[in-house]
Amino acid sequence: MEADANRRKVLVIHGPNLNMLGKREPDIYGHQTLDEVNIKLEDHAGKLGLHIETFQSNHEGAIVEKIQQAYGAFDGIIINPAAYTHTSIAIRDALVMLDIPIIEIQLSNIYKREPFRHASMISDIVTAQVSGLGPNGYMLALEGLAQMI
Ligand code: DQA
Repeated sequence: MEADANRRKVLVIHGPNLNMLGKREPDIYGHQTLDEVNIKLEDHAGKLGLHIETFQSNHEGAIVEKIQQAYGAFDGIIINPAAYTHTSIAIRDALVMLDIPIIEIQLSNIYKREPFRHASMISDIVTAQVSGLGPNGYMLALEGLAQMI
């Protein structure tokens, strides 16, 4: 087993209202809680030889600061900006500064939903987007990053 310090580091950022997963519109977002998703992510990351840190915030500025702190400290990012996907130039600008692979996750297929959800402020600057696969999308993103970094 590789020493932890040598493992590639991935930061997973969950945006607003994702702390309510499991309770929030389960027909759209599923029944798993965010804690359950994070535990599965940690387990999967370990198997892939990655170290992960997970972070959730309901505040745009806190997410921007977390992305800034990732500069030079992480090898890849998985981010679901949630509602900020559609509005946040600040999160986009913070992500653009990083020169590491970034994967955007959308639990639901945002292109099948209301028109205001069709636009993502980050889809044209990320490495890849996974939309519509529910929490499994995070696992696939980890696998993608494990190949890339
Ligand atoms: C979401 C889609 C957004 O439109 C919504 O505001 C969310 C969740 C998703 O993962 O499907 O909070 O980002």
